Amino acid sequence: MGLLGLSSFSRASSSSMVAYVILVLGLVLNGALPCNGGQTSLFVRKVEKTIDMPLDSDVFRVPPGYNAPQQVHITQGDHVGKGVIVSWVTVDEPGSSKVLYWSENGKQKKQAEGKFTTYRFFNYTSGYIHHCTIRNLEFNTKYYYVVGIGHTERTFWFLTPPEVGPDVPYTFGLIGDLGQSFDSNRTLTHYELNPQKGQAVLFVGDLSYADNYPNHDNVRWDTWGRFVERSVAYQPWIWTAGNHEIDFAPEIGETKPFKPYSKRYHVPYKASGSTAPFWYSIKRASAYIIVLSSYSAYGKYTPQYKWLEDELPKVNRSETPWLIVLMHSPWYNSYNYHYMEGETMRVMYEPWFVQYKVDVVFAGHVHAYERSERVSNVAYNIVNGKCIPVKDQSAPVYITIGDGGNLEGLATNMTEPQPAYSAYREASFGHAIFDIKNRTHAYYSWHRNQDGYAVEADTMWFFNRHWHQLDDSTSS
Ligand SMILES: [Fe+2]
Repeated sequence: MGLLGLSSFSRASSSSMVAYVILVLGLVLNGALPCNGGQTSLFVRKVEKTIDMPLDSDVFRVPPGYNAPQQVHITQGDHVGKGVIVSWVTVDEPGSSKVLYWSENGKQKKQAEGKFTTYRFFNYTSGYIHHCTIRNLEFNTKYYYVVGIGHTERTFWFLTPPEVGPDVPYTFGLIGDLGQSFDSNRTLTHYELNPQKGQAVLFVGDLSYADNYPNHDNVRWDTWGRFVERSVAYQPWIWTAGNHEIDFAPEIGETKPFKPYSKRYHVPYKASGSTAPFWYSIKRASAYIIVLSSYSAYGKYTPQYKWLEDELPKVNRSETPWLIVLMHSPWYNSYNYHYMEGETMRVMYEPWFVQYKVDVVFAGHVHAYERSERVSNVAYNIVNGKCIPVKDQSAPVYITIGDGGNLEGLATNMTEPQPAYSAYREASFGHAIFDIKNRTHAYYSWHRNQDGYAVEADTMWFFNRHWHQLDDSTSS
């Protein structure tokens, strides 16, 4: 309310004026001070249903030329960052699965041979999906690469990460639940134009939302691939599977989940001793990144449980100080959407996260933003009643970044009062940046789409849990 509102109060009784002042003060203080838990943003937005960009949108344009490679994307191709998996789709004929590549300063062009695959799903038949792993690259080097050899050639480039080491700075982008709506396009543009310049994206699941269409219309997997190519052809996106990747369709005999996702998005899971592409790890610069699957079995004795149990002791914080976990369904989430869906996995794995001092857990799924305090809830044993999360400096910060754009709209309905573990929450679309400075410090920022590209709507200095385990909470 502005001056016009105040002038109308000049005729009101003094008691209602006092009530008005108290109301305004209350609103201001509610936004400025932590109340119950942390802060619930008062940022005002017009909540509209998100809609997908139409099929003839320019971001979905098919590249010109006979059998031109499309949906080009890269991800890390080995455990340490000397490998890259290059993937693309051709539609007229298989063509070559070869990748030609050379370093910026090198004279010699090299080539790697890949393979292609196709699949059918309902009445959809895919194009020829190529995957080619390039290995033994130099660290910290710009490489050019060409796909579509023999037909329409397209050239792209990427930078390999610096050699793994404890004080290597590196900047990760964070995007989740992206989809292909108009909001998705805004999120990707904001990420690209963020002056902090992310070098690789940690993607926390829910890619195309094709399964929201009749017969899971897989044409929407193709459009999504063309939409994000402008980023993911040039820097690796580290993939996490979300619920929209499950594509469970027993009515057409598809009894195994994740078919279109598995065909299209390869990850280097074997390099970390994993037996399935839905949980794996990589090292990149000074970070050790563990990707988990909320939608694969994770109970005791399951392959994912056994793998994680063996994996966590392997993390050498003297080599990779920053231990980051990605998953789709958040463990700490105070929105009334997907509430407690991550609870069973939390019960299984949270004691390990505290024991091994995970720095931060990024999740998606809830279409909003939330950052937790460092809390744990590991004392409960059914009979002792200790079921409230408590502050714990060995625990990770939990960040929900499922605010990419999706197709289903924002999650605006929150649990009230805000729980004590919730440091900041806001129902806006956006992305985040995790900027590692050295072994002790990382600067984290969240950027909402409505702001200018450099604006930080929520920030935090992370102190490394192994090297600098001081209280880094923003509300104390
Ligand atoms: Fe989801």
